[in-house]
Amino acid sequence: MMPQSFPQEWMPYLSAISDTSLRQKVALYVTNSQKLSRPDLVSKTPNPVSEHKSKFYAGSKVVSRGLVAHVVNVCELLLWACKKEPSLKQDVLLASALVHDIAHIYDELVSLLDHSFLGVCELYAQGFPLEVLHVVASHFGTSGPTPPMTREAVVFAMLDAVAANMEC
Ligand SMILES: [Fe+2]
Repeated sequence: MMPQSFPQEWMPYLSAISDTSLRQKVALYVTNSQKLSRPDLVSKTPNPVSEHKSKFYAGSKVVSRGLVAHVVNVCELLLWACKKEPSLKQDVLLASALVHDIAHIYDELVSLLDHSFLGVCELYAQGFPLEVLHVVASHFGTSGPTPPMTREAVVFAMLDAVAANMEC
């Protein structure tokens, strides 16, 4: 049974990851996301994933986006893409979706280390496969510091942006 700190809304997408080792890594990372491997870098424990909302500007409008709902939207778009193109690696895409924005909960830290950078540091330390590290590192797309170099990374960056724009 999954601990309560794993959002219930994400369970279908976690269950759809067929690789047991990857599924367990995702479950552990999300469940323990309030514990950073370098606790000396933060002064307070962040809110749990289920309570996190990001505020940002969409044009001149301030938008508040819930992390749980955003990830559900990204997973749904990725499942649609995998149905259309079955050669895409669904495990890599779903695992990346569930973990890609979690570092946002470290508000005070991500003003100095971007959430994708901090996220990759944690995922690297926890033994995630390179394909997932690359998708997370490149999820800003071609305008970010790590351009997407795999099909999964290209599709992910595009559909993450589609989800983000739908939510504005
Ligand atoms: Fe995202």
